[in-house]
Amino acid sequence: MDLKSYVRDIRDFPKPGIVFKDITPLLADPKALKACFGKLYAEVKDLEVDKVIGVESRGFLFAPMLAGTLNAGFVPVRKPGKLPFDTFEESYALEYGTDRLQMHTDAIKKGDRVVIHDDVLATGGTAKAVCDLVTKAGGIIVQCNFVMELEFLKGSDKLEFPVKSVLKY
Ligand code: PRP
Ligand code: MG
Repeated sequence: MDLKSYVRDIRDFPKPGIVFKDITPLLADPKALKACFGKLYAEVKDLEVDKVIGVESRGFLFAPMLAGTLNAGFVPVRKPGKLPFDTFEESYALEYGTDRLQMHTDAIKKGDRVVIHDDVLATGGTAKAVCDLVTKAGGIIVQCNFVMELEFLKGSDKLEFPVKSVLKY
């Protein structure tokens, strides 16, 4: 199944000059949704995994389903001020300025084997910040897992862990 045919380019979104890769047609098609999930799952099924992290907000689309199918727990990494309990925090660079991500301090136990999932690996700033959060908590990162990787941005160079993505551009 050609999953790329279910991804549409949206010009000048969210800002002029950016071509946004929109996966909502893929999500809306039952066969494409199932095939995409199957490919994500195939990358992690043979790893022993304790926790799957989903990165707010588009990482929440597949991460809980991956966790459930793996018999692992789901852990949300969220934008600042959203999580109610004590948090670890990491900053990361945006095109202009910085942003922050938070994770509950009790979400990952020392030695937990962790898969980090997000929809897109672009510059890698987001995923690197999540890796730093997991490392801070004492987790072992077994894979960084994405629906889509924009290879020309070389985000994987920032990550010291195995990177897998279903679609590459
Ligand atoms: C997008 C995307 C990834 C991240 C990738 O999220 O969903 O999380 O950017 O970019 P990077 O590799 O250059 O860091 P965004 O922060 O736009 O928020 P959203 O998921 O809430 O839409
Ligand atoms: Mg995101």
